[in-house]
Amino acid sequence: MSKYLFLFGNTPKLSWLELSSLVPSSELVRENVAQTDLDSEEAQQIFAKLGGSVKLIEITTNLNPDAKGALSQIAEFLASKKSSGKITFSLGILGQDLLDISETDIKKYLRDKMSLSSRFIEHKQSGLSASVLLHQEKVIEVILLEVDGQVWLGQTVAVQDIDDWTKRDRRKPYADRKKGMLPPKVARMMVNIAGTEAKTIYDPFCGTGTVLAEALMTGHDLVVGSDLDGDATAGAEKNLAWLKKEYGLSGEVKIFLSDVTQINKYSDLKNNQVDAIVTEPFLGKPRPQIEQLDNIYKGLEKLYLGAFKVFKEVLKNGGKVVIVFPMVQTYKTTYSLENLIDKLEQLGYTTTSEPVLYARENAVVQRQVFVFKLTK
Ligand SMILES: C[S@@+](CC[C@H](N)C(=O)[O-])C[C@H]1O[C@@H](n2cnc3c(N)ncnc32)[C@H](O)[C@@H]1O
Repeated sequence: MSKYLFLFGNTPKLSWLELSSLVPSSELVRENVAQTDLDSEEAQQIFAKLGGSVKLIEITTNLNPDAKGALSQIAEFLASKKSSGKITFSLGILGQDLLDISETDIKKYLRDKMSLSSRFIEHKQSGLSASVLLHQEKVIEVILLEVDGQVWLGQTVAVQDIDDWTKRDRRKPYADRKKGMLPPKVARMMVNIAGTEAKTIYDPFCGTGTVLAEALMTGHDLVVGSDLDGDATAGAEKNLAWLKKEYGLSGEVKIFLSDVTQINKYSDLKNNQVDAIVTEPFLGKPRPQIEQLDNIYKGLEKLYLGAFKVFKEVLKNGGKVVIVFPMVQTYKTTYSLENLIDKLEQLGYTTTSEPVLYARENAVVQRQVFVFKLTK
């Protein structure tokens, strides 16, 4: 067992909800870093499953508090990781400036005291970006992190495969950018928040099938989707057939055409079989006029409440709903569906965590991710 750090991407709160759902023993040590003790294979497997973590860091030791001792420790660490030729390294510092040691000091120490030549790769303070690291295999990235007055020394041992995420986002055969699509990483985080024990995942507003795709990628046995738009259901079918072929996946996929209020008529969903509903419903117009917002949010409240009523008929007792609620902030008012929470409680749904805001830059409609548990 070693200590591992998970470095979150640009939605740290959602990333933390995801990681703590998969690994309840993990602890948050900074807003964007969590730590947990794992064996190496397990750490790599969990990391590969996550949508919201960009680096996996293995901690080796605590750093000597005295600068000279720390310098020799870092140099020896680099020398021990060296393969052949020059040592190529980067130095990521998570938190404020921790040490009075520069890359020049490290290079000098390696050269003068250990007769080793090295090259430092320039980057911002927290380390190289995952995409640079992904394409520069030989770089040893040393990471320093201060926790409770001690400095931990470690190395980045895995980075998020950004190319693969981009492939699923951009190369799927059917897209509908007008209606809005969830970024696959957000869909993956939502699926993971629903939990690995969920066998059947259902998205009743499936659109292009992003949630279904990520549920299939993470090994759920049965993924079911529906939508009232026939272009969406046909497109989602195409996307999932492409995904299954591209990744050699075997899970079962069922997609059907239905308004959300009618889903309980679909035979595969009868008898309370669904473990979790993971979904991004209709969020209203992407650029609403301020004077329309009152009406839009009344309509959305009705749509969402009606949906939750019928979800009760297809979800198992204890089933989860991981769902996006829209929110618009004007200079005077915040429009959201938070008023629904009390009504949902009366239906048996309780929130299991605080809502997490997720917003693209400059987006008028922001997304809040809510997690509910149903008690029947
Ligand atoms: C924001 S999109 C979902 C996008 C999806 N997450 C994706 O990544 O492609 C919302 C979807 O809800 C569907 N929809 C809207 N009202 C509906 C209703 N009453 N019943 C079922 N589906 C509905 C729309 O056709 C649309 O595909």
